[in-house]
Amino acid sequence: DAVETLKTRAPVVTIMGHVDHGKTSLLDALRGTSVVSGESGGITQHIGAYQVTTKKGDVITFLDTPGHEAFSEMRARGANVTDIVILVVAADDGLMPQTIEAINHTKAAGVPMIVAINKVDKPDANPQKVRERLLSEEIVVEDMGGDVQDVEVSALKKTGLDELIEKILLQAELMELTANPDRAAEGNVIEAQLDRGRGAVATVLVRKGTLKVGDTFVIGAESGKVRALINDKGQQVKSAGPSTPVEILGLSGVPMAGDQMTVVENEARAREVAAYRQEQ
Ligand code: GTP
Ligand code: NA
Ligand code: MG
Repeated sequence: DAVETLKTRAPVVTIMGHVDHGKTSLLDALRGTSVVSGESGGITQHIGAYQVTTKKGDVITFLDTPGHEAFSEMRARGANVTDIVILVVAADDGLMPQTIEAINHTKAAGVPMIVAINKVDKPDANPQKVRERLLSEEIVVEDMGGDVQDVEVSALKKTGLDELIEKILLQAELMELTANPDRAAEGNVIEAQLDRGRGAVATVLVRKGTLKVGDTFVIGAESGKVRALINDKGQQVKSAGPSTPVEILGLSGVPMAGDQMTVVENEARAREVAAYRQEQ
């Protein structure tokens, strides 16, 4: 292999936790937007992929999971896209079945975890009880003498957010996350659907290289040429570098979450790779 020039890339952070513990609200607070209010029944039904730029200009990519199946399914398909997991635990509810599930998935993935104890504004919030209860899951937070970072937050009152950002960036720094932006792009499908009007659309997280409009690609067993790229703000962009989530238009069909996207030199090669993958 030729020597590659690696550059620092944004950490990819997956937010997990029990239903209604405030995953989307926390992400909304970090983004300064409101996704929750637009959700039917306040239930997240698809993976949201967003980038947040901090006050100091650091970029963090967040994935908001509707359930842990999505996370484990992607892992099962060989897509380890997550660098860091934020475990959201509501301080009033404490550890619930899906919290334990999230812990187990995170451990299985070998991904570092930061615990966000949310809803500390509530009168019956008991963050200390959450920390103690985490011990029985063998998660020892810093306060208890361990090395798992934890932070008390309120997505509603927007408290603890800067501290959470700091801890994510600190963790990311320790991990020395890099990628080469100057090569053909590779990435993974986060989610995909058939869109009325737009056809097959896939949200892809670029892992390495830079994806550009006009690139010929293979995604799973589908191939195509990038007709348009749309960023997490709904804007058309010309390219997307490492750790960037982007919607791709121009697919031949709908791929599956976790599928690998590879940019290839030409359409003949794309068809070849797609046909080969279809046989697998
Ligand atoms: P699912 O995607 O359905 O699993 O839920 P979620 O974890 O994304 O939770 P969501 O953000 O939808 O929040 C659930 C409820 O908790 C909503 O009614 C929020 O307004 C409320 N909530 C979230 N964060 C806080 C908080 O910090 N304090 C209080 N008091 N309420 C919160
Ligand atoms: Na919810
Ligand atoms: Mg949600």
